[in-house]
Amino acid sequence: MENLPKHITIIMDGNGRWAKQRGKERIYGHIEGAESVRACCELAVEMGIEYLSLYAFSTENWNRPKDEIMGLMSLMAKSILEEKPTFQKNNIRFMVLGDRSQLSEELIGDIDKAMEETASNTGLTLIVFLSYSGKWDIRQAATRYAEDMKKGVAGEFEDYLCTKGIPDPDLLIRTSGEQRISNFLLWQCAYTEFYFTDTLWPDFRKPQLRSAIKTYASRERRFGKTSEQIK
Ligand code: FPP
Repeated sequence: MENLPKHITIIMDGNGRWAKQRGKERIYGHIEGAESVRACCELAVEMGIEYLSLYAFSTENWNRPKDEIMGLMSLMAKSILEEKPTFQKNNIRFMVLGDRSQLSEELIGDIDKAMEETASNTGLTLIVFLSYSGKWDIRQAATRYAEDMKKGVAGEFEDYLCTKGIPDPDLLIRTSGEQRISNFLLWQCAYTEFYFTDTLWPDFRKPQLRSAIKTYASRERRFGKTSEQIK
């Protein structure tokens, strides 16, 4: 396939509805959703995609019921610990980005360990956005930028965002029929192609990701220029 996206980002949505359709607790949807994460990573590695990022938990998600939050956080910790050997075997660099102030020390420890251990891997970069929101990111960047401005040492604004060094997403996928950005990568998605599908996240596996990539590959990106200019 030509025109492969370098960075695919996904808003994983619909776990709760998937579980409800089966008369189960929401956490079952998240557990099944973790299997979709696995499948999408596998395909990304197979296709040589450079960056795959996933919106796992937003700053607004802290308002969910306590037991669901706890379930999600332990699923996160379990996935990190279980998948670490897979990251190494597949040369995956693993990163977690977001506001750490509300995360437990134990989870932060697991995250840092996995990040350090995989930091020199050169294959797929897998990024999990956890306790992240676009407005949070722009706000924290602006605060630090202003401090450096005062000292006369400010660089590029982009380099203050927590995504520093990561190319902007080429393709954003959102599952479950919702067509909005929900405070995700607000700055970074300025020229990103959007792909919406009714498929619920636990049902979004390799064939569905392949379709999304195919659709992306057929689009013309102009970045504000005319068709003639980009030829
Ligand atoms: C959205 O569905 C999903 C989430 C808020 C959590 C996503 C988390 C996982 C898939 C867990 C595993 C993640 C990793 C990185 C191992 P929803 O609960 O908003 O569904 P609804 O809209 O149907 O209620």
